[in-house]
Amino acid sequence: MQRPAKIEEAWGRKYPEQVVLAITKSPEGKVNVMAIGWVTLVSDGPPMFLLGIDDPAYTLELIRKTNEFVIAYPSKAMAKETLYFGTVHGHNIDKGTESGLTFVPGEKVSVPLLADAVANFECKLVTEYRPGNCPLVVGEVVASHVNTDESVLRLVNCGKGYQLQ
Ligand SMILES: Cc1cc2nc3c(=O)[nH]c(=O)nc-3n(C[C@H](O)[C@H](O)[C@H](O)COP(=O)(O)O)c2cc1C
Repeated sequence: MQRPAKIEEAWGRKYPEQVVLAITKSPEGKVNVMAIGWVTLVSDGPPMFLLGIDDPAYTLELIRKTNEFVIAYPSKAMAKETLYFGTVHGHNIDKGTESGLTFVPGEKVSVPLLADAVANFECKLVTEYRPGNCPLVVGEVVASHVNTDESVLRLVNCGKGYQLQ
């Protein structure tokens, strides 16, 4: 049975929600990382991801400047770092270094990969839309990488207030 509900209440039932990390690099070489729940695959030929990135995010500024980013699937061991990446803006902080995580060079973009992630996708910006109040960024995957350890599992957001497990 269903009952009418406000959109906020209905959306509150969406969990568990996937979370990814969007990695970017400034022209000066600073690596920035942001947590993103509004993400989906939108094409498999060529492969493309769509990300919803709010206007204030430093990540959006860097993607617009460099046309490149990496999407990483964080592992369950990265809950603390993902919360950090998702609650602190990177304009004046070096989040990549502060996190203590290891980054390694990619193949096709200048943005590095997250070494211990479940998987990494190197992306080049295709386009940006704004159908509502949130900019939507579409990136084509130009190279992909997986963790050699198949037992490393993805982190997910299990509830309001960022219950990362
Ligand atoms: C689990 C989780 C999911 C998030 N999902 C999004 C999202 O989909 N879009 C968004 O704009 N911000 C999202 N955020 C918030 C950003 O990650 C946050 O604003 C971050 O500090 C932006 O970093 P930046 O300014 O360095 O780019 C999320 C945060 C967390 C913890």
